[in-house]
Amino acid sequence: MLASLGCGNPTALAKLNLGEVVLDLGSGGGIDVLLSAKRVGPTGKAYGLDMTDEMLALANENKRKAGAENVEFLKGEIEHIPLPDNSVDVIISNCAINLSADKNRVLREAIRVLKPGGRFAVSDVVTRGEIPAAVRQSVLLWVGCLAGALEENEYNARLESAGFEQIEIEPTRIYRIEDAREFLSGQNIDVDAIAPQVDGRFMSAFVRAVKPQREETCCVPTCCQ
Ligand SMILES: C[S@@+](CC[C@H](N)C(=O)[O-])C[C@H]1O[C@@H](n2cnc3c(N)ncnc32)[C@H](O)[C@@H]1O
Repeated sequence: MLASLGCGNPTALAKLNLGEVVLDLGSGGGIDVLLSAKRVGPTGKAYGLDMTDEMLALANENKRKAGAENVEFLKGEIEHIPLPDNSVDVIISNCAINLSADKNRVLREAIRVLKPGGRFAVSDVVTRGEIPAAVRQSVLLWVGCLAGALEENEYNARLESAGFEQIEIEPTRIYRIEDAREFLSGQNIDVDAIAPQVDGRFMSAFVRAVKPQREETCCVPTCCQ
């Protein structure tokens, strides 16, 4: 519990099968990696990727305590994933992609390392509809995790242009104005004045997409037989 800084529960929502390779982008204290490792079993493998030494140290300590052997924590950036092409069955992530300053690059890297037919199944914070910049900034201060949140249609479009298909964005928690009232009042913000632009516009969501199966290209007359 102490090691979790997420905004959802991707391991509960993602379908993981025995023997699969899972990669958690921005794995933090490693809780979702350890849960995934159990689900894929000893013939599978769970990788966690994080750029922060402190989080990697915590994750490795948690790995040691859990006695997990099919787990590896990698140091690196989610914009430059240190794994080969077509090597991962499922990418999970819990509230980390929204923190990236180059989300297109993250999505391109995700599709590169996924195997054909591989699944992208992440929890992230998204926004809904147009929100004035000043209001957005006030609310974004409320939860640090919201800082780089994408609008849901924008997220969909970016996944599509990275090459994903079967894209679904399903809200798992919609934030109401009452959730933020105390914080915003403390910032001297007239909460009732901005309520219509905030209520229901920020949410945690489960974002799903699939890398297309590789298309067969015939180069000689017999290759499709
Ligand atoms: C909000 S925490 C979530 C941690 C974990 N997924 C969880 O649910 O507890 C975000 C994590 O992503 C990592 N992170 C943020 N940006 C990153 C990047 N560009 N590359 C790699 N890791 C990143 C941070 O170091 C941090 O551990």
